[in-house]
Amino acid sequence: MDCIVKHGTVVTAAGVMHADIGIKGEKIAAIGQNLEGDRVIDARGQYVFPGFVDAHVHLQMTVGDIVTGDDFASGTIAAACGGTTTVIDFTSNCRGDDLLEGVTARRAEADGHVAVDYSMHLTLADATEKTLAQLPALAEAGYASAKMYTTYEPIRLADGEILRLLATTRDCGILPMVHAENHDAIAYLTAELLGQGKTGPRYHPLSRPPLVEAEAAHRVAVLAQLVDAPLYIAHLTCRETLDTVLAARQRGQLIYAETCPQYLFLSQEDYERPGFEGAKFVLSPALRDRANWDVLWQALSVEQLQVVSTDHCPWYYETQKVLGRDSFAQIPNGAPGIETRVPLLFSEGVGKGRLSLRRFVEVCATGPARLHGLYPRKGTIAVGSDADLVIYDPDKEVTLSFKTLHQQVAYCPFAGRTLRGYPRMVLLRGQVIVQDGEFVGRAGQGQFIPGRPFAFH
Ligand code: URP
Ligand code: ZN
Ligand code: ZN
Repeated sequence: MDCIVKHGTVVTAAGVMHADIGIKGEKIAAIGQNLEGDRVIDARGQYVFPGFVDAHVHLQMTVGDIVTGDDFASGTIAAACGGTTTVIDFTSNCRGDDLLEGVTARRAEADGHVAVDYSMHLTLADATEKTLAQLPALAEAGYASAKMYTTYEPIRLADGEILRLLATTRDCGILPMVHAENHDAIAYLTAELLGQGKTGPRYHPLSRPPLVEAEAAHRVAVLAQLVDAPLYIAHLTCRETLDTVLAARQRGQLIYAETCPQYLFLSQEDYERPGFEGAKFVLSPALRDRANWDVLWQALSVEQLQVVSTDHCPWYYETQKVLGRDSFAQIPNGAPGIETRVPLLFSEGVGKGRLSLRRFVEVCATGPARLHGLYPRKGTIAVGSDADLVIYDPDKEVTLSFKTLHQQVAYCPFAGRTLRGYPRMVLLRGQVIVQDGEFVGRAGQGQFIPGRPFAFH
């Protein structure tokens, strides 16, 4: 063995055990007792988790003429420091763009810059014959999931387009994800609010309340039922949408859903912060009332929700969020979170008894890897899996602040919280890339990991 991680408490979604892990090259080669190798990492008193998988990030994403604050290098360095060794981003093509060209262009932006491994969801922004015809080859090439939007110009889809895309993705093994919000309802409510002079960030959640999300999720779930397609609801925020997911599952549908830390820790009260500070929390779907926190924690713990991802989408406050000073509808949507997901979920989930250790690993690593075609190469600790490991100090206390994080934007939505438990060391394919909170790897070392087709039938 090249390296042994010794004496740690190894946690997978299947169980917890005291074992040594042997690494040969980039892979896990043995799990057992008293293993020997050239180099030893002592994990006594620490947990050993699989490298975590963030299935929803927007690095270097252009919207209009602005670009999100983390590029592929800075965003993935931040991810690594927070224990995430695989991220899944999106292609950024719009309606009418050639999807294949969009994929090639996006890969060119990421390849050679990422610091952790990555995969990519397709963005489906139209349902032309050309787009549909390109999907089988893209699935073969490792694009195993795709996001559809029910709102946002110029990427939103009409119901007929969603139906055609659902039928085609079903046939070629691509898992369809949906951003579910009723576009016309948002437009109506926004016009009403702005017409009454209600322009500040605090009105953002009133323009996109829970029913706006639940209606669209229900509609797309029914469309999926019509063509017998699986479905993944992105960034689920509230009881109303959870109810639509559970009802669809009750009808026998294969439907999955993710939530994000912002919906577990932040609320619409954050929009009331003084001055224009509330703009930092403008993201969509919007933050909800606190009653939803328990709903979502409970749903995670009883396996009603499958994934916690970040929807990391960081906009600079001084130059980008301020574009919406005169209207909340012009505030760029999104917030940073790629580095804080795992420590937040461990401290407030495992530490406070809301999630078991196994469930924590399931929703932050194994579940996303499985659903997006990366398992068992990613998302678990098993012989033959990539040696992506997080040596985790359960007692280290960290008070979150943008100053100590590696994300580029100068704010952290979760700032001021003191968390217990933090990554001490992170390995990517057998190489140490984070040591005591600092990135010691190389931007560019990350590889594209093709997703295996989603096995629906
Ligand atoms: O506000 C958000 N979440 N922006 C990112 C794009 C998206 O819808 O996921
Ligand atoms: Zn979305
Ligand atoms: Zn997103």
